[in-house]
Amino acid sequence: MNERPHDLVICISDFHSPYGSEDAVKFLDAIKSKYWKKAKNPIVVNTGDELDYHSISFHGADPALMSPSDELESAIKKLSPLYEIFPKMLLCESNHGSLVYRKQKFHGLPRSVFKSYREILGAPRGWKWADDWTLKIGREDYCYFHHSKSAEVLKTSQSMGMSCVSGHLHEKFSLSYWANPNNLYFAMQIGCLIDNESLAFAYNKVNLKRPIIGTGIIVDGSPLLIPMKKNHRGQWIGKLPY
Ligand SMILES: [Fe+2]
Repeated sequence: MNERPHDLVICISDFHSPYGSEDAVKFLDAIKSKYWKKAKNPIVVNTGDELDYHSISFHGADPALMSPSDELESAIKKLSPLYEIFPKMLLCESNHGSLVYRKQKFHGLPRSVFKSYREILGAPRGWKWADDWTLKIGREDYCYFHHSKSAEVLKTSQSMGMSCVSGHLHEKFSLSYWANPNNLYFAMQIGCLIDNESLAFAYNKVNLKRPIIGTGIIVDGSPLLIPMKKNHRGQWIGKLPY
């Protein structure tokens, strides 16, 4: 772990393309414009569910939504502006993002006959997938990024003995700190970037809690949550809160 610390980490999660927020790309572009140039060693981490794959879900699909082929085509189209904005991205394996491979395993097919994540999406060479990522964010500080190793990001952080960023739980947008005699750590849950009006998320209607649209960044080792505030028409207001 001798790498140079990343003085900016943009933490993205749960875009669920093609059922992501229409404003997500503009929102992420605004965050890049504001923070990227000031950084010496910036990086983007996506904690997963970059695709929804509703049409091939193990829980059944809404017949009013797209076929698997149309859905994948649309998902790539909606994701592809990010290829230009962020030609390098570290992505985490996730329950939705890995659905094609989970189906492959379920049906007993060899993984080797399937395309890689990057090939399926036609993503740039700088987009890389792994189970999780550990990055240096300060002289002595590391952060563990993953989709969802437990329901409590604070517990994951304490188990790993380092700061931690999680996705997966769309309604959780939280930041907490803990400390031991060695250091101060944070645990951040970064919400999601979905379009909650899509039929793909009809299951949310039975819950009182609603997804929180936003993302997180880490600047010089310090975390910050950035909610995407909306107007009464449900559109992003077009500016960052700070
Ligand atoms: Fe998700």
